Amino acid sequence: MTDLSVDLGFLRLKNPVLTASGTFGYGIEFSPFVDLNRLGGFIVKGLYFNPREGNPPPRLVETASGLINSIGLQGIGVIKFAEEILPQLRKYDTALVVNVCGDDDQEYAAVVDYLDRHDGIAAYELNISCPNTKREGRCPALSPSTAHAVVKLVKEASFRPVITKLSPNVTDIVEIALSVQEAGSDGLSLANTFLALAVDVEKRIPKLANILGGLSGPAIKPLTLRMVYQVVSRVKIPVIGVGGIMAGSDALEYLITGAKAVEVGTANFVDPRTTLKIIQDLENFCKSHRIGRIEEIIGSLKLRDQE
Ligand SMILES: Cc1cc2nc3c(=O)[nH]c(=O)nc-3n(C[C@H](O)[C@H](O)[C@H](O)COP(=O)(O)O)c2cc1C
Repeated sequence: MTDLSVDLGFLRLKNPVLTASGTFGYGIEFSPFVDLNRLGGFIVKGLYFNPREGNPPPRLVETASGLINSIGLQGIGVIKFAEEILPQLRKYDTALVVNVCGDDDQEYAAVVDYLDRHDGIAAYELNISCPNTKREGRCPALSPSTAHAVVKLVKEASFRPVITKLSPNVTDIVEIALSVQEAGSDGLSLANTFLALAVDVEKRIPKLANILGGLSGPAIKPLTLRMVYQVVSRVKIPVIGVGGIMAGSDALEYLITGAKAVEVGTANFVDPRTTLKIIQDLENFCKSHRIGRIEEIIGSLKLRDQE
């Protein structure tokens, strides 16, 4: 029997596979297709304090090996979530992580302060990196000082662990990761979507109503994996890899590079059961390589001269 559990320090997961925010609803919608108890955890759609409509359509465009979305963080708000969704999620034996959004730093703090009064949440994932808000791709994760300020405020407002989700749309990801760690973040998720554009050549207009959107899916995996590689050797807090994971081999690339866990996003739209297949793939890999604990794989990347 392979031990697939992983220890993030602040949270032990039964296996390293979580669903990525915005691609798995509030979890409950997927329960007819996926036994949520089998997941390492799931991260619900981003929540602002109040409900939001999101951006106007069209909001999704398929590209070569990818998807550009400009959903704009449509959501039901924290009060409806706590009153109607959370009671249904408490019965599942898996880690529930709430993705937290804010138009300003105070809103992030208000969301966690409100949710702290409700049981059943294992951690928060701070979405300081969404490219699809009114700020035209601008978000706190684009500079070390704005990222630091919001994480510090949220850590002061909450008793729960905080995973900060970084933006890939920066020149130096390590600089941002270090500032967020310094502000007290318990972990990092790397990363959100890449700011992107698609054009309708007949009409000569952007394909998305919002003009720009965020690119996800297989196209971004090598880029995000590179960022995980750059960050893991420089920070002490655990890193969760997210970007383009479609199969067990993709998840293994992230784990070997040093991510302690992974999130699966766009792949849920292709097949809602992808996460279960990935968990099975990880188990098969461990068995065929005689690995007793998946944690033995984490950070086991050998550089050429160590082969
Ligand atoms: C339709 C859609 C909605 C998303 N909504 C959120 C969100 O609410 N909060 C968030 O932090 N990330 C959101 N993301 C980003 C994903 O969680 C993930 O970081 C990104 O898609 C990269 O992973 P993937 O290539 O596996 O999809 C969204 C992505 C997509 C495609």
